[in-house]
Amino acid sequence: MSALLVDNIGELVTNGVGEGPLGIRRRAAVLIEEGRVAWVGPAAYAPAADRRVDAGGAAVLPGFVDSHAHLVFAGDRAAEFAARMAGEPYTGGGIRTTVGATRAATDDELRATVRRLRGEALRQGTTTIEIKSGYGLNVADEARSLRIAAEFTEDTTFLGAHVVPAEYADRPDDYVGLVCGPMLAAAAPHARWIDVFCERGAFDVDHARAILACGQAVGLGVRLHANQLGPGPGVRLGVELGAASVDHCTHLSDADVDALASTAVDWTSGTSTTTVATLLPGAEFSTRSPYPDARRLLDAGVTVALATDCNPGSSYTSSMPFCIALAVREMRMTPAEAVWAATAGGARALRRDDVGVLTPGARADLVVLDAPSYLHLAYRPGVPLIHQVIRNGVPQ
Ligand code: NIG
Ligand code: FE
Repeated sequence: MSALLVDNIGELVTNGVGEGPLGIRRRAAVLIEEGRVAWVGPAAYAPAADRRVDAGGAAVLPGFVDSHAHLVFAGDRAAEFAARMAGEPYTGGGIRTTVGATRAATDDELRATVRRLRGEALRQGTTTIEIKSGYGLNVADEARSLRIAAEFTEDTTFLGAHVVPAEYADRPDDYVGLVCGPMLAAAAPHARWIDVFCERGAFDVDHARAILACGQAVGLGVRLHANQLGPGPGVRLGVELGAASVDHCTHLSDADVDALASTAVDWTSGTSTTTVATLLPGAEFSTRSPYPDARRLLDAGVTVALATDCNPGSSYTSSMPFCIALAVREMRMTPAEAVWAATAGGARALRRDDVGVLTPGARADLVVLDAPSYLHLAYRPGVPLIHQVIRNGVPQ
């Protein structure tokens, strides 16, 4: 059996046993066998291995878990971004522009875009990524979006309820019927999750509840875009349905925060009923909007994740380090909280216990930084600090 030793780690973030909330170990080593972490301990006691990666005294972290990304699309919306920076508001209306371009694209064009963005994310330390549909919005294009997404990740999400497409503009009830009926039937074999954009101008709470319930009935897990552009009932709907995550959470009432805080892990059955609040600061950055208040959520005991929301409209970044830096600077998170949210938090948002941690048995997804500490991810914004990525035990 071929073993790989990542040796000479100055600061190892485990998110398990160790110092502080990040479970930090110093002068450490990690042994990898068959794509899994086999041993973590002091470098001085490292077992022998066939191959060795020398971290050179730098920091090593679990690979980032980006639990919210819209990578299956065609075209871009740079002109819309420029108009926004000149004062136009973001309404989500541009989604239909991307739907037109996506429908017109070939499978290979869509696949090439996903591959490019997936590669871009990987080079920035993302080893697990969720990918949504949502720019097809008809049966064939939603199904093929998910088929292509499934070539790149296990965490595929059916977002047929992104917006009501133009051809259904005056009969939204009919569109909800299509989503719950033939579209879900075609999408479900390729999807692990179902998502709805619950927002004024997209889907109201009754439509969202109906669509998510249909998805649950065929075994899909629930996640939800909620409270992005204004206050509303989306977050509480997510909690009511036991969603793994409610995403954006920019405009929250006290009742929303209390509802999120009331969700918890059931340690006796081992099943998580926690609804994670996934914050997407790239969207506030790119729409020039006020950031969500992560401090308020953390102080209330809510589990917080960070993700990129990578999409051509509201957040065209694939960079988790950028999101960490924004979260620390703009959302009152400490660097440790932001790094946890971008790794273990993302894993919780996807209800996965095999990623986001570096403990024996976990998937061997590691990032070696070109820096002595995880702190540098926020301290040195915009600097390419990802020195090496190991995914499934394989150096990339
Ligand atoms: O998460 N909010 C809805 N969906 C995306 C934006 C999609 C777009 O503008 O193309 C988001 O921000
Ligand atoms: Fe999104």
